[in-house]
Amino acid sequence: MESKFFLNHQETKLTREIFNQYYSPQLVDQAYKKSIESIQALNQKICKGNQFLGWIDLPEKQNFESYKKISSEFSNFDVIVSIGIGGSYLGIRAIYESLKNPFKKTKPELIFAGHHLSSKYLVELLEYLKDKNFALIVISKSGTTTEPAIYFRFLFKELIYHFGEKEIQKRIIVITDEEKGILRKLARHYNLISEVIPDDVGGRYSILSPVGLVPLSIVGIQIEDLIKGAKQMKNKIQHNTTIETNPALSYAMYRLLNYWNSKEIEFIATYRPELFYFLEWWKQLFGESEGKNFKGIFPASGIFTTDLHSLGQWIQEGKRNIFETIIDIENDVEIKIFSNVDDSDGLNYLENKSLNYINRIALQATRIAHVEGGVPNFTIQIPELNEFYLGNLIYFFEYSCAISSLNLDVNPFDQPGVEAYKTNMFRLLKKPGFI
Ligand code: PA5
Repeated sequence: MESKFFLNHQETKLTREIFNQYYSPQLVDQAYKKSIESIQALNQKICKGNQFLGWIDLPEKQNFESYKKISSEFSNFDVIVSIGIGGSYLGIRAIYESLKNPFKKTKPELIFAGHHLSSKYLVELLEYLKDKNFALIVISKSGTTTEPAIYFRFLFKELIYHFGEKEIQKRIIVITDEEKGILRKLARHYNLISEVIPDDVGGRYSILSPVGLVPLSIVGIQIEDLIKGAKQMKNKIQHNTTIETNPALSYAMYRLLNYWNSKEIEFIATYRPELFYFLEWWKQLFGESEGKNFKGIFPASGIFTTDLHSLGQWIQEGKRNIFETIIDIENDVEIKIFSNVDDSDGLNYLENKSLNYINRIALQATRIAHVEGGVPNFTIQIPELNEFYLGNLIYFFEYSCAISSLNLDVNPFDQPGVEAYKTNMFRLLKKPGFI
């Protein structure tokens, strides 16, 4: 089964004619031409930021043997603490939370740290780890990011305090640049297990590198399937200039057409709460790639139907500067509504209907309401929530994000704006070299 892509409520194959029904044909033509230029620049590696195109070929460049070896050595710990922020955090959490059972304690348990500067979280984490058999994965491409560096300093000391220096080679994995940075030095100094973040892969495009694959394989995620899904999407979209068969092209066109129509907020939603962190990953990908030179679509997200009871009002009747993207998952666990003798809650009319059927009716009903209310819609439908289709989605979004950013003539792979807060922070903290 393949992922499917729809415009507004037309659950039929996307064509140029369908685009022409909702946007001016001249604009559709311009959006097509611009997106094709971007695809070609990407494929010929002549686009802005072309020194960071390593992510394109990650599906073919995996050392599963090495990941399996690490995974067998680390999967018996009670807790794995994954330390990192931004691209060294969000993708791992996105996949982990999408697939885990929120009510089941797993072994090893994966805990995230170093993605903020909260003291309470740190103190409580140290307390929690006191009687646990734990290990650390520290992930930072630059090796200099303050948040994970501070958390790692505490957790490294805690690990030595609990298990002794002799254990650190068995309990720490370093994932960082091959040559540069403090973490690489540390890995060499202590002879730690380590994996390389390729030089030509930027943080937010690194989920299919050791950044994501090492921690995820330790906690039992089928990383080979994740990569298979990414590969299938890559084969479908790379070098493909046909709207009908290249969903990344049609999604990039949809985004550009809305942007040209002064719709500058993209609201991505899904009807499955498991995808909450996947949407956080998506926000970083698009926000950090596209929002520069005073351009870019603002990425926002929500979980429906939950947020229909909060943001739904705004989406339906607020300022008409918003368009919507929906991730629809066709199948869910089967559970049916049963009938009650007295029908005191009035729900007997739903007897024998599955909860997933009702959830997907909510999707259809909302989509009609939003489209009629002036909020365009692009639906991405995957058959199941599993590793394969998550891999499909990751590659689809990464590729569309690169096209979309190039469509706005911005570099999809740098993030100069992130430096502004860091420089101020270092100055205020009187870091040597910043006073
Ligand atoms: O996308 C990016 O490059 C950033 O979000 C980085 O991933 C983030 O700043 C963390 O950087 P590092 O891995 O160097 O600690």
